[in-house]
Amino acid sequence: MKLWQGRFEKELNEEVSDFNSSIAFDHVMFREDIAGSVAHAQMLAMQGIIPPEDGKRIVVGLQGILEDLESGLLAIDPTAEDIHTFVEQVLTERIGEAGKRLHTARSRNDQVATDLRLYLRGRTAALITEVRRLATALVELAEAHVDTVMPGYTHLQVAQPITFAHHLMAYAQMLARDLSRLEDCQNRMNESPLGAGALAGTTHPIDRAMTAAALGFAAPCANSMDAVSDRDFCVELAACTALIMGHLSRLSEEVVLWCSSAYRFIELDDAFATGSSIMPQKKNPDITELVRGKSGRVTGDLVTLLTMLKALPMAYNKDMQEDKPAVFDAVDQTLACLRAVTPMMQTITVHPGNMRQAAAKGFINATDCADYLVKKGMPFRDAYKITGALVARCVKVGGTLEALPLEVFREASEMFGPDVYDAIDLGACVAQRCSEGGPAPTAVRKQIAAYRQKLAI
Ligand code: ARG
Repeated sequence: MKLWQGRFEKELNEEVSDFNSSIAFDHVMFREDIAGSVAHAQMLAMQGIIPPEDGKRIVVGLQGILEDLESGLLAIDPTAEDIHTFVEQVLTERIGEAGKRLHTARSRNDQVATDLRLYLRGRTAALITEVRRLATALVELAEAHVDTVMPGYTHLQVAQPITFAHHLMAYAQMLARDLSRLEDCQNRMNESPLGAGALAGTTHPIDRAMTAAALGFAAPCANSMDAVSDRDFCVELAACTALIMGHLSRLSEEVVLWCSSAYRFIELDDAFATGSSIMPQKKNPDITELVRGKSGRVTGDLVTLLTMLKALPMAYNKDMQEDKPAVFDAVDQTLACLRAVTPMMQTITVHPGNMRQAAAKGFINATDCADYLVKKGMPFRDAYKITGALVARCVKVGGTLEALPLEVFREASEMFGPDVYDAIDLGACVAQRCSEGGPAPTAVRKQIAAYRQKLAI
């Protein structure tokens, strides 16, 4: 029998009852549901809305339910309507009359909004921990590769020389923004809907500030209708996870390339790669591909939430029950991906020789050659043209800029001198890119130090 069975002459149709139920996915919020009920009961007793002995009985009863759920002594009833009705029903079975007073001045609408904010606050904290772990791993790897020269690409074409450290720090910057977005989202979700009732507050003399403080919220939500119908915090968190997954998918794609036989820049540890059922030689980067795939799934969760909320009238509507599978999945998948990628990155073997070899190809020093002429006084556009012509000549004969004899340089421009070879040397090309935020070891060391300080890692 349903908790709300009062005006109905029939029990809910069995199939519809299953259809209506959310216990299969909202049972994970049992701790938060019980914490919310404890705070509510204590407030009701304090305000004289329920007798103090009943308040005590409710709190003790709820604590017993929590213990029994944690220990497995009490199992979640899969036929219950949701976690809120399940806990209230068990409480009333256990403590009798007093249990029936718990729902005074409360609705499941403010209850579910409260539980969800509390639960996601904890999940956001877990995400923050995992993003920090990955950021730390990347910074540590970067520190070991400040001098490891590799090709930088645009359009996947060799562009200008960089270092592996510089490349990794680009990802660290993305993760730093992810962290600040998560913290921002956590702050905004940290307001208490409890006491908003179904939508229009209550006639009882409740103290919303008291329950908000007891649950660690910064303040009560200001408007009772918004309190029960707002799911912005789910969208914001899903958006944070979709962006984290976007970043992880980019890193994953690069790892796939880097360990392919065409690149051989890195090798995955055996514990983080998989084999083929038919091809004995294979060592596949399955983790990264799965992360790439899951990024689409998490984006889908975000779109589900946005679409579910679009054009919903005030205030609570049952559509909102669909918020939980979507936002829980977004968080669970993102946490799982972060927990796989961090140790995978911590255990890679880097092949600096292959990176350097790849950087020596593709006229990666062409900009430096043009810059050499600019430093001798030539306008950049002229220097660009002259260098382009030299590159074209090399392409024809299959050579490199650094292998051209000095006469050839001087035929192209009188401004070339013997010091051009130092200027277009690969190591020098990187070392000279010491502008703020650039790849030169001096600049990257500064970047790493600032990053470590900012994130306290
Ligand atoms: N299971 C519901 C949800 O997840 C709880 C709130 C139900 N409220 C209601 N008036 N039907 O949204």
